[in-house]
Amino acid sequence: MLKPQVFPDHEALSRHAADWLAARLREQPDALLCAATGATPLRTYQLLSERHRDEPNLFAHLRLIKLDEWGGLAPDDPASCERHLRELLVDPLKLHDRYIAFDNRPADPQAECDRVAAWLAQHGPIDLCVLGLGTNGHLGFNEPAAALPPHAHVATLSETSLSHSMLTTARTRPTYGLTLGIADLLQARRVVLLVSGPSKQAPLRELLAGPVRTNFPASLLALHPQVDLLCDQSALPTPP
Ligand code: GLP
Repeated sequence: MLKPQVFPDHEALSRHAADWLAARLREQPDALLCAATGATPLRTYQLLSERHRDEPNLFAHLRLIKLDEWGGLAPDDPASCERHLRELLVDPLKLHDRYIAFDNRPADPQAECDRVAAWLAQHGPIDLCVLGLGTNGHLGFNEPAAALPPHAHVATLSETSLSHSMLTTARTRPTYGLTLGIADLLQARRVVLLVSGPSKQAPLRELLAGPVRTNFPASLLALHPQVDLLCDQSALPTPP
């Protein structure tokens, strides 16, 4: 059963997450970090880049893998996960030669997923996996479904994903998603799930209710032995 650690607000949650990640990096400098995008982890990543100014060596061996991507957006599209990760982590932490990512507009999306899957099979597993909670329970673009592909795959985006706030700045509409699979996430050594804001009250209630089911993919995290579920007060479900 997942037990949340509750923080007063998003800032406190982000500070804890950044300190937690820094502590893990001290234990394992060449950790492979899988990074979600979206609004929730943004402040955590800013805090890591601030830390880089005082302690650059902490990040000298860190490896980064992109969790997911909006297929079809240009890499410099303001809404692309690529642009977010480059601005928040890759550039400030100087990870350019230790960064693996889905191409945004591959000629053959399935072949691109196979390439990332082969890289992960050789260089994985993920050591530290930072995830956000979709309002429909998705993790990355592992969308609710009767069955979930285990590894990197091309995803059909749900209406919920297509109405995600990231896309308000998009120059074009994504036509599909590229994502690591649920097995990749469950094979991560440590998972930290960040949950913030009133829009997450309903999915957090469902997550804490417990049943493990593929039509609420985040519920599969209950099968993982090392999940840190961090939420802020505003995301806490109000009693019915
Ligand atoms: C998006 C992304 C996920 C992200 C999630 C939550 O659709 N595909 O990687 O973690 O939804 O985003 P937010 O933190 O903005 O709520």
